[in-house]
Order: sequence, then structure tokens, then C-alpha cells
Amino acid sequence: MKIAMIGTGYVGLVTGACLAHIGHEIICVDHDQSKISALKNGEIPIYEPGLDKVVADSIASGNLTFTTELTEAVEAVGTIFIAVGTPPAADGRSDLTQVEAAAKQIAKAANGSKIVVIKSTVPVGTCRRVGRILGKHGEDHEFHVASNPEFLREGNAVDDFMNPDRIVVGTDSDKSEAAMRDIYQRFEAQDVPFVSTNLETSELIKYSANAFLAAKVAFINEMSNLCDATGANVEDLSLGIGLDERIGKAFLKPGPGYGGSCFPKDTLALTILAQEADAPSRIIESVVDSNSNHIRRLGRKIAEFCADSWGLDYQHPLIDKRIAVLGLAFKANTDDIRSAASTVIAPLLIKQGASVIGYDPEASEAALDAIDHIETTTDMDEALEGADAVVILTEWENIKSIDWSKKKKLLKSPVIIDLRNLFDPDQMAELNIQYSSLGRPLTGNRR
Ligand SMILES: NC(=O)c1ccc[n+]([C@@H]2O[C@H](COP(=O)([O-])OP(=O)(O)OC[C@H]3O[C@@H](n4cnc5c(N)ncnc54)[C@H](O)[C@@H]3O)[C@@H](O)[C@H]2O)c1
Repeated sequence: MKIAMIGTGYVGLVTGACLAHIGHEIICVDHDQSKISALKNGEIPIYEPGLDKVVADSIASGNLTFTTELTEAVEAVGTIFIAVGTPPAADGRSDLTQVEAAAKQIAKAANGSKIVVIKSTVPVGTCRRVGRILGKHGEDHEFHVASNPEFLREGNAVDDFMNPDRIVVGTDSDKSEAAMRDIYQRFEAQDVPFVSTNLETSELIKYSANAFLAAKVAFINEMSNLCDATGANVEDLSLGIGLDERIGKAFLKPGPGYGGSCFPKDTLALTILAQEADAPSRIIESVVDSNSNHIRRLGRKIAEFCADSWGLDYQHPLIDKRIAVLGLAFKANTDDIRSAASTVIAPLLIKQGASVIGYDPEASEAALDAIDHIETTTDMDEALEGADAVVILTEWENIKSIDWSKKKKLLKSPVIIDLRNLFDPDQMAELNIQYSSLGRPLTGNRR
């Protein structure tokens, strides 16, 4: 099928390239000239493992092209996906400016009947609203709107697209449902469940899925605090509850709070949506609070642990100290720092007088733009050299595999606060490293 993908960001590029890979003819559109020029030159503007090959193969097969010309793309196809950003507005609602602008442009460019698929994450009612915009600005043509939320995870996006747990589609006409089944026929043939529902349910499935996962993260982070306070071990606790199939093992690892471009904005938007629908979700409101409290609490934990380790008082222990932050991206295998823990924790440390040098293999540049007064590097040794303390925020493979017996000598003082539980407290104690992690009893007290 011939499809235009409006928005060639993390979701649009992966979805466009993967749909091209499975045989569709995709025109990826973006109004960002530099992005499209880079893609035309074979450069991938984001870091996403495996994406370069899928893009290259799809360009070579003739199934994938790039343009800034939305009108030409819309004229050439019958189905148009909208995969533009829906960032949080100042009041926490989803800012739908990009979606509405794209809908208007599509309506004006239309040269016949079109199916418009909303891939962006949008609040309930948005597909109907887009339908009205299309009708108003393109009254000579027939439009069918479908909802098709995306569940890919950055860092694993290509694999997630190619091996989905399910395809969710919301439609309000047989024509759009048939088109969506056609697009995803290959997956249905592989017995991937195809959840076909109405527009509202499909929109809400995406928010509910993210909210549920965010709740799991917030829950285990609270349990890790409780483990810290009681001497229990959160890793054994996760295993002990996760082996119950009704609970499941995924998303039960404590960390520096959920971040990224989706969970924070989607949980907040859902609470507002629920309040406005007079069906408030106290659970999700608590999850949002719990997550932001957790990150702030970790800021205090870092300062207190440093003070203890350095033998300083708790008043202003970080003044003039150099802290290396390992990992700036919101998780491993991405360069995305939107709502990453680094964007909260580094400023908290800087505010307390520390100078912060952040290391990340892919997100250093983005972090330099996003975090005031941070210094960043892609050279881990440069970050560790002369550091008074190290804070670990992202579980990159090369951070996980640090041999501290070798790297310790770079540090001015061997103090490590590991907010991903990547290292064994016993081994760190053997290396005479002052080591703090999440919800694991002090060394020597593990069993
Ligand atoms: N990033 C994720 O992991 C993820 C996962 C699932 C769902 N989502 C949702 O998918 C949507 C897109 O997210 P993203 O991370 O890909 O955003 P992004 O900011 O990386 O990409 C959006 C792109 O759309 C382009 N754009 C905006 N308006 C345009 C227009 N009128 N014409 C042409 N191009 C236009 C922008 O230039 C940008 O390149 C959001 O709603 C997000 O919540 C994201």
C-alpha cells in the first residue's frame, strides 16, 4: 500500500522504515529540512539500534523516500499516518498543535478520498476532532480517521515494530478497518493479536498501557525505599512477586524514576483527561506524585551519602565537589533525554554547589543543550578523572561492564551512588568503594 508518514521522528521514522521493509511504499514527510536532507544522504538523525540497516534496505528496495513536501506526498497516497509530536503543554495537557496543523495541511492538500491514521499518542476525542478539522478544511473530499497507537520502545524500536505483542486499531468505518487490516496483514498472518475497536477505546488503550507500566515502576521504587528502611532486598522481592504470573517480572526493577518522552507526559495527560471526564484516577495521580517525589528523594540521598562518605556535615556537602554522572539518556540504547532523570538530578546537584560532568555515549550533546551549567563528554575516563563522587543513571552496556578495580584509580574519592543497581555491593566493598544502590541491604547483610 502507498502511505505517507507525516512526522519523521522516533516513531515516524521507525514506523515508516519498518512498513517499507514489509513491502509498503512509504513517503516519510518532515518539515525539518535538516532531518530530511540527512536522511536523503543516508544519515540517521537519531540513535536507534538496527534502524540504519532497515532504512538503507528500504531505500535500496525503492519502498522508502523522504520529502519536506507534504502536499505532494498526500496527493500521491490514499492513506496518511500522522506521527507528529504531542508534547506536554504547560498545564500538563497534551499539546495537540502539531496534530491539528498536520490535519489541516492534509485536508488542504487532499485530491480525493483519504484515510488518516493517528499514530501519535493523543487524548480521547482527538480522532473525532481531527475528523472535524479534515471535514472543515477539505470539504470536497471524503476522510476516514483511524487510531493506531504505537507501543515501540526507544532503544528496541525496530524489534518491537517487527515483533509486536499486539496491533491496536480504532476505526469508525468498514473502509478504514479494512485498510488497517491490509497494512498489518503480515502480522495478523503470524497470529499477532489484532485488537479492533472504536476510536475512543484505541486512544485510551495507549494511555492506559503507559499508565499501568508507570504504576509498576513507581510501585517498585516505593518498595525499594521500604527495603532500604527495613533491611529487605528489593531484587529478591521483585523476583518473589514477579514470578506470580498475574504480576509478571517486567518493569519491577528500581531506578531513578520513569522518564522519557512518553510516561511522564502521558500519565499527567491521563490524570487531567480523567478529571475532566469526571472520572478522576486517584491511582494515576498518586503514580505521578510518587515518581516526582522519588526523583527528588534521590537528589537528597546522593547529597547525604556523599556527606557521610566524605565525613562532612549535611549542610552543604556538595559545594565545590566534582560529580561524574554516568548516563544522561533516559534509558540505554537511545540518545533521547526528554524527561530523563539526568535533567532533574544534575540540576539538583549543580544547585547544591557541585560541578557536574556527564558522560553518555549518545546523549552528551543533547544534554549539553538541555541542562544548564553541565559539562558533558563522550569519554568516560574524562568524566571519572578527579571525580569526588560518581552517580550512575543509565544502564548502558559499557557502564554496566565497568571494571571498578581499574577505573577506581581515576577517582579523587571512591564514592559511587548507583541508581540502576548495576554492581554487586559485596564486590564494591571488597574494592573499598563507598557504594550506595537502591533497596539492597548494606554489604555483609545480604542474606
Ligand atoms: N518516542 C517514543 O518512544 C514513542 C513511543 C510511542 C508513541 N510515541 C508518540 O508518538 C508521537 C511522536 O513521537 P516522537 O518521539 O516520534 O516525536 P518527535 O518529536 O521525535 O518527532 C515528531 C516529528 O514530527 C515533525 N513534524 C511536526 N509537525 C509536522 C508537520 N506538520 N509536517 C511535517 N512534519 C512535522 C517534527 O519535525 C518531528 O521530526 C508522540 O505523540 C509520542 O507521544 C512516542
